[in-house]
Amino acid sequence: MTNTKKPEVLISEDQIEDRIDELAQQISADYAEKGEVVLLGVLKGAFIFLADLSRRLTIPRQVEFIAISSYEQGSIRSGAVRLVMDVRRSIEGKHLLIIEDIVDSGHTLHYLVNMLKSRNPASIRTCCLLHKTEKTEVDVTVDYLGFNLQDEWVVGYGLDYKEIGRTLPYIGILEPDDQ
Ligand code: IMP
Ligand code: MG
Repeated sequence: MTNTKKPEVLISEDQIEDRIDELAQQISADYAEKGEVVLLGVLKGAFIFLADLSRRLTIPRQVEFIAISSYEQGSIRSGAVRLVMDVRRSIEGKHLLIIEDIVDSGHTLHYLVNMLKSRNPASIRTCCLLHKTEKTEVDVTVDYLGFNLQDEWVVGYGLDYKEIGRTLPYIGILEPDDQ
């Protein structure tokens, strides 16, 4: 079943843009002394956020991607987090900044941080566009956060519901049809 209702705007394009400007300034200032940062985007959800954020940074940076799957279908949880695609080079000794679209239960970010820590990067921080703080079940640190969210399913700006809504320019609320 596909949901064809137009998602209601929750966070507008302008609001996203302003917040990303602020995040980019803060990250650029924090990393100014460190040298190069490796921006590690979590596919697919973070691709637009990473594209916009990376172009606003003023520090030396590289871009890498990793793909993780935590849901089988739509918003129904599959349970375990699965690594679908790994980074293509060593991250040992690098300053890693994980760029994630959204933290919900926190299992994905928790898994990622632990897995990447074992590869001995110089540092690891996390930058997440959205965080459903009340739903987070495990201990995760979000060093740079775009917006807090309530318990609602959002699409747009890289986020999807069964691939629906991913390329919308804003973040909107779409009621899942399987809940
Ligand atoms: P967690 O492991 O429960 O924190 O789930 C994180 C992942 O679930 C995110 O990277 C998204 O891919 C997906 N996700 C969680 N909530 C939403 C949402 O509201 N819209 C779209 N994707 C979501
Ligand atoms: Mg994701």
